[in-house]
Amino acid sequence: MNYKLNPLALQNAPALIESVFPAQKVSFEAQRERKAGAGQTLTALGSYWKGRKPLILVRAIVLGSLLPPTGDAEGDLEIFEKLMAFDDEGLARRALAAKAFSARELQEHLPIADPERYFSGRGWRRDASEADKLALYRQALATVATYEAKAALCKRPEEVDQDWLYAPVWPVVNHHYAALGIDAHSFPELTEQLGILRYGHRPRVGDTFCGGGSIPFESARLGCDVYASDLNPIACMLTWGALNIIGASPERRAEIEKTQREVAEAVDAEITQLGIEHDEYGNRAKAYLYCLETRCPETGWRVPMSPSWVISKTRNVIACLKPDQENQRFEIEVVTGASAAEMKAAEKGTVQDGALVYELDSKTYRTPIKTLRGDYRDAEGNTGNRLRRWEKHDFQPRHDDIFQERLYAIQWITKESLNQSRQETFFTSVTEADLERERAVEAIVAANLTRWQEEGLVPDMAIDPGYNTDQPVRERGWMYWHHLFPARQLIYLAAINRRSKQAGAASIIKMGKALDRTSKLCRWHPSSPGRPGVAPSADKVEQVFDNQSLNTLYAYASKSLLELSLFLSRYEEKSIRIQNVGRISEAHPANLSSDAALCALSDLQTRVLTHPANHIKDESDLWITDPPYADAVHYHEITEFFIAWLRKTPPKPFDEWVWDSRRALAIKGSGEDFRRGMVAAYTAMAEHTPDNGMQCVMFTHQDTGVWSDMVGIFWAAGLQVVAAWYIATETTSELKKGGYVQGTLILMLKKRPAGERTGFKQRIMPAVRAEVQRQIETMMHLNDTVKRKHGEPVFNDSDLQMAGYAAALKVLTAYTQIGGEDVTAFALRPRTRGEVTVVDEIVQQAAEAANSLLVPEGLAADTWAKLSGIERFLLRMMDMETTGAAKLDNYQNFAKAFRVEDYTRVMGNMTANQARLKRLTEFKSRDLTDSTELGATRLGRLIIALQQMLAETEPQTIISQLQAEMADFLEVRPILIDLLACIERKAPEPEVRPAAEVLGARIKNLRFGG
Ligand SMILES: C[S@@+](CC[C@H](N)C(=O)[O-])C[C@H]1O[C@@H](n2cnc3c(N)ncnc32)[C@H](O)[C@@H]1O
Repeated sequence: MNYKLNPLALQNAPALIESVFPAQKVSFEAQRERKAGAGQTLTALGSYWKGRKPLILVRAIVLGSLLPPTGDAEGDLEIFEKLMAFDDEGLARRALAAKAFSARELQEHLPIADPERYFSGRGWRRDASEADKLALYRQALATVATYEAKAALCKRPEEVDQDWLYAPVWPVVNHHYAALGIDAHSFPELTEQLGILRYGHRPRVGDTFCGGGSIPFESARLGCDVYASDLNPIACMLTWGALNIIGASPERRAEIEKTQREVAEAVDAEITQLGIEHDEYGNRAKAYLYCLETRCPETGWRVPMSPSWVISKTRNVIACLKPDQENQRFEIEVVTGASAAEMKAAEKGTVQDGALVYELDSKTYRTPIKTLRGDYRDAEGNTGNRLRRWEKHDFQPRHDDIFQERLYAIQWITKESLNQSRQETFFTSVTEADLERERAVEAIVAANLTRWQEEGLVPDMAIDPGYNTDQPVRERGWMYWHHLFPARQLIYLAAINRRSKQAGAASIIKMGKALDRTSKLCRWHPSSPGRPGVAPSADKVEQVFDNQSLNTLYAYASKSLLELSLFLSRYEEKSIRIQNVGRISEAHPANLSSDAALCALSDLQTRVLTHPANHIKDESDLWITDPPYADAVHYHEITEFFIAWLRKTPPKPFDEWVWDSRRALAIKGSGEDFRRGMVAAYTAMAEHTPDNGMQCVMFTHQDTGVWSDMVGIFWAAGLQVVAAWYIATETTSELKKGGYVQGTLILMLKKRPAGERTGFKQRIMPAVRAEVQRQIETMMHLNDTVKRKHGEPVFNDSDLQMAGYAAALKVLTAYTQIGGEDVTAFALRPRTRGEVTVVDEIVQQAAEAANSLLVPEGLAADTWAKLSGIERFLLRMMDMETTGAAKLDNYQNFAKAFRVEDYTRVMGNMTANQARLKRLTEFKSRDLTDSTELGATRLGRLIIALQQMLAETEPQTIISQLQAEMADFLEVRPILIDLLACIERKAPEPEVRPAAEVLGARIKNLRFGG
């Protein structure tokens, strides 16, 4: 292709993301992507991997890093939004793709001069064109107030046909960047051209913490070459899958699907031949339900254990325990069509509140599980129990083990409906014939286990102790990974593993999904008919990793081979081809080393490697990373569940990877080791970046201490902060259930120019203030322009504040030494509790500089400067609430910025997305005593005064009280008036506004001494 490009023309140009980024819109779209659950593009490859970064966020970062500012900030923003499909036309197309409005709604709500052109009766005319529909959709969307409300009606950009969605965008983009010679008609073309302008070649994006692969995948989809690595081979496998299965060409995809069907058919034939999954009538199992059983120390009876005996709520199926006096055990009878009373009774299982509880001859017996297990603490304080530690050749409990395992119910698919799309199922008790099959299963496993282990088809890997991995050992005595699987499933999985390994990499990825649904850690989920607010659900086997731990269960369930085959043969993953264009730049030197897996994605270069982040092999122009900061998920431990099955004889190209979790090398926690590991990783990345390259680091922002640590790390790695954005990625995190809200901080960094620069705090502070002011004022200016035009500003207060921090850090991180301390020493030095570092001080300075600029609308800057933190917080948030803001993280962030001690005391609602301040009328007198943060302020005093006004106290009396309480009443009178004027404009309660007006007017008109 022949572009009129001047390579390297943008070599030293800043990136657009340094000054402009539609953070609010990205936040909204990122949250929508998250909420799509199974509708997300990459989760289908393995939903056991949690915490993938939203693709839309990655897209925005890559584009923002490649696009240059042209000197026309507003025009640049417009282009950026068009490329993200956030603009009006993009929204109209996305809404049309979602069929957001019916023809009837449009007819009813829009003034249409020539309805017959579009409609026939209540529907569309048959010949109504797409252009006609789009015209009406544009009009309809224009009546929707906010971006969020509009976008909520739309499909996500990635769900819409890309050629159609972006058809109107390319001419505008080409026009905007005409001076640069851009001529693009797709993302890969645009990306490649921008790369040539900036780096002289197609840009390469690297991610050394690639995890589930969002960053490499989206970068490749945009047309970048990618370098992806992770310490963990499961992460690498998922990343490889994203690039090579989801990103495969249709031809390759068809091939993969064919192979998968063959694998599924071959395994199915093998198991069918063994005769262990069909009953004597030809019905086939769908799920197996197991429970533990233990001997009651009081009665000597063997008692089945489960927290509930409900099997299906839609069909009223339960398991009933029938005493068998002769054998001192219980028969388990599966009853279908149980009465309401029986269902209710079955909800109460034999494991209640950590104890074995059951009834025999009208007497209730209760034994704590701890007692059953024989938990003890020895003289040295070590804890332990009497559970036997299982050995490598064990695959089921021995007859004298404390916990036995028992199959108690089977869900069958009727013979007649086996090959139908709607299958008939039913549950049965375990019969003598079933037990016969179980014995056959045991015999097969006993005869083959050692061989399977040697061949790498079943794990022979011991469970190393650890935060998550201690649990199965402690609670069951399971010492090897295969102990986590029922015998029957070992047969299935060995067969799947053998065939998949033979079939190749794309097949073996499926093994991960199968493992996630077959172990003793899978819960049985009884169906439910649903009720208002709760959707109906089917009977099903849950995933192992529906949470990120290795929780043992008293009752568990496993899918049959038939069900697992569905995972194997059905490629439900989305097929999204990574578009490509002919290369016009020189290929990067492939520099293939032995552990490299080079996958030819058309001619995009994508490398996926397993190595620690500081062992990078190749240079990248742009490193985008999401490091394991204080990660709640112990990927290095829990993925051993999968590694144990895959590590021996993996197929190409996985055979070149290190199949070990290498726990010792994993970066974890947030302490000294974490900082050391991170500095090494980011130094390596900086060394593998050209001088004009960029880095983007995402991390979860929980407290201001994070700033200090992270900035210290990047600073020590030779990087300089150039921008920061805050993205609300999820409200209450799926990973860390808890009281706080999660957002992601996007920090943009560049290599610090070489050479030493020594700074002193006293000199840096004024420079920090000036830079913060310059940054915020520039952004406010753009805000005004955009608001005038589109009715909504680009940046909200938290964007401005974040940009203020970034501006301050930009000044700070340009130095190599501050006050005589070298930055590396600073980053690695152990922290003392409560220590205030130079970064903390600068961040605080920046917050103050920013806050002094963020005056709520209508308040005099002078008054603002005189207010305390809690006063500022209250007024600022009151102002924000008028724009409909209700996110708890906003309140948290501003409380920190204004140094409010306890903002919760002034909050009326602390729900993640419905947060709000207390209404003025909701403050109780105990909230406003002198000893409270707010009560001691003028604003606190005014709130009492306003409450009195509403209680019809005479204004004069109120004012006299104010005068009596405030010695400086005369001097502060203008502040009081200003505060009341602000409340009059912003208070959400209609009755408070006139009260503030009257009180303000009375104070204003006070005559003194007269
Ligand atoms: C937060 S996750 C990344 C998630 C990823 N961005 C995604 O979208 O799925 C952090 C990753 O860092 C990896 N990791 C931890 N220590 C590492 C090290 N020393 N070197 C390389 N990767 C490491 C973990 O295996 C994990 O996959």
